[in-house]
Amino acid sequence: MPVVETASASAWMLEGSAISYALALGADRMPRNLHFGPRLHSASDLLALAGSVRSPGVAPFGGMYGQEYPVWGGLFYDEPCLKVTFADGTRGLVLEYNSHRTRPEDDATWLDVTLRDPAYPLLVHLHYGVYERHDVLERYAVIENTGDEPVTIEEALSAVWHLPMWAGYHLTHLAGRWAAEMQVYREPVAPGRKVLESRRGHTSHAANPWFAMDKGDATEEYGGVWFGALAWSGNWKIAVDADTTGQVHVSGGLNDFDFSWHLAPGESFRTPSFFAGYTDRGLGEASRILHRFEMDCVLPRAFASRPRPVLYNSWEATTFDVNEQNQGRLAEIAASLGVELFVVDDGWFGARDSDRAGLGDWVVNPRKFPNGLGPLVRKVRSLGMEFGLWVEPEMVNPDSDLYRTHPDWVYHFPNRPRSESRNQLVLNLARPEVEAHITEALDRLLSDNDINFIKWDMNRPFSEPGWPDAPVERQREVWVRHTRAVYRTLETLRERYPDVAFESCSGGGGRVDLGIMRLTDQTWPSDNTDAFDRLRIQEGYSMAYCARTMMCWVTDSPKRYSGRAIPLRYRFHSAMMGSLGIGGNLLEWTERDLEKAREFVEEYKRIRHIVQGGDQYRLLSPRASAVTAVQYVTPDRSESVIFVLSSPHLLGEPAPTIYPRGLEPAAAYEVHPDGTRASGSALMGHGICVPLRGDWASALVTLRTG
Ligand code: DGJ
Repeated sequence: MPVVETASASAWMLEGSAISYALALGADRMPRNLHFGPRLHSASDLLALAGSVRSPGVAPFGGMYGQEYPVWGGLFYDEPCLKVTFADGTRGLVLEYNSHRTRPEDDATWLDVTLRDPAYPLLVHLHYGVYERHDVLERYAVIENTGDEPVTIEEALSAVWHLPMWAGYHLTHLAGRWAAEMQVYREPVAPGRKVLESRRGHTSHAANPWFAMDKGDATEEYGGVWFGALAWSGNWKIAVDADTTGQVHVSGGLNDFDFSWHLAPGESFRTPSFFAGYTDRGLGEASRILHRFEMDCVLPRAFASRPRPVLYNSWEATTFDVNEQNQGRLAEIAASLGVELFVVDDGWFGARDSDRAGLGDWVVNPRKFPNGLGPLVRKVRSLGMEFGLWVEPEMVNPDSDLYRTHPDWVYHFPNRPRSESRNQLVLNLARPEVEAHITEALDRLLSDNDINFIKWDMNRPFSEPGWPDAPVERQREVWVRHTRAVYRTLETLRERYPDVAFESCSGGGGRVDLGIMRLTDQTWPSDNTDAFDRLRIQEGYSMAYCARTMMCWVTDSPKRYSGRAIPLRYRFHSAMMGSLGIGGNLLEWTERDLEKAREFVEEYKRIRHIVQGGDQYRLLSPRASAVTAVQYVTPDRSESVIFVLSSPHLLGEPAPTIYPRGLEPAAAYEVHPDGTRASGSALMGHGICVPLRGDWASALVTLRTG
């Protein structure tokens, strides 16, 4: 049974195939954590642990004592999961166990524990899901007002994860900026609090809602790693606390900054989900657990088992200057390369000749497409490709018909400027009529045109997040209401148009998280398409997210931003490590490059099931050596590919041996291109040598059994 409980029903254990998570009621009837880590093997282990549950009094000056859902009240000074104010002004919370139940749902088994405030009509339902096969836990909370007066929620996190007592934990996390998203950082955990967060209204380029913790000894392959990821695309927070008692815990959920929620009588508030897991097989396995979980349980079912198509996107080639002719010409060349999905990016609508106008007016620009999108769509289809379109539904340019008609539809504060970024403002999706408007506009677009794919962009963070028409007690709800409206709109569109796939983009990689992945089929990691810079971005991405969701384009060289020139082969190899796309101006590619591109696309199609569906191993990190190597292995271990890419290095610098991973030790593999045959154990133990000469050299090595 994935959820075990003691006869007294005061301790529970959630069991995966290699992990256990146990909790028990303390003397104060509050659930406390007993264990989160390697699998415990019997219910008697649980009993033994339950005898050791720590209760208040252990630490002289207050503390968390392993509380499963600490609330703000009493001698409590750490990060609470819940902070509320009752209608009479009482701000302290007291909770105690009320009831529990277990239930199977979807791919998980759930333990639901309900806590109640003994003096006020408030219930808190803690939900614990265990995805047994994947060794992943899911936690969220529902706060229910059962009284007849409102309650104000000031902080509502999803969960806290307690780690065993240890000095010397290290935190690995992802941080960055526009064009350099998801860089990997690893640092010792010091006393105090480290907060990873977004206050920007979207997931953010600056930080990503994922963490990994280890005892200071983990590598890619070895060592205990606790990891977690939030399923939320708005303001979020992950706080790593090393408290005064020496305990280390990681709490996370909605960001409480500028947040409050007016919980009316009879209403409930659900927090986003916080997923977590543990492995004793290093950071690499922590990533693979998440990757498999995403592929099996998170991504929309409609496309989860189909290969992601090779895509062409017009953005870098034609920017806002799209029209029926130039897109038609690009489509012809793209089709000849083997592209399967042709996407027209920004510029096809309203008065959109630059980023200064048109956003919000989702009608086809009649000058650029005099007969609507129909002729181009038909052409793309006749060339054997699917058709995709870019939109940015949450935004408006002040120079647009939408804004002229509804200037009050954007977030703003009275008597304050409306700060523009990229000449645009953010639509207030907390307003039901605005959400209805964008749902209807997108619905019309999809019903009027034969569209198979939507790239949903969001090119600026929030500012002046005011909603002056709303009651004052509701105005800080915008942070949550906005994200929920985005999710609802996507859900509605997916339901109405089940054959349409979606990409999440936010001015590059500003919206990559497990929340958006439940509703989109792929994401855009960065506007930086430089094939070398991408290696680090892709490495960071791979810490938490699977390769099939990671869109990578081959673009022109030298790059406009970096001025760096990189050969086509390297550019393809870098982009083939995820879902391949082409984003260069094909009208200017030489015949020779087009011919080569055709071969790479063909090759990608032969190996994409390995990349998009396989286990990923980060063999050599671009942070650590001039040679980067990334391997993918099919789940049955019969096929594998290794990408090896070399950046500029000193003459004579030794090329590192590459040690493949994940192969079947006894099986014989044929290695290409050199034709060697060797057993999996020899390849993994002895390694392979991939000679690369010169800067920007790269190779794709395949290994196949039989
Ligand atoms: C930002 C995206 O990341 C780009 O790929 C492109 O779609 C532009 N927006 C269009 O404005």
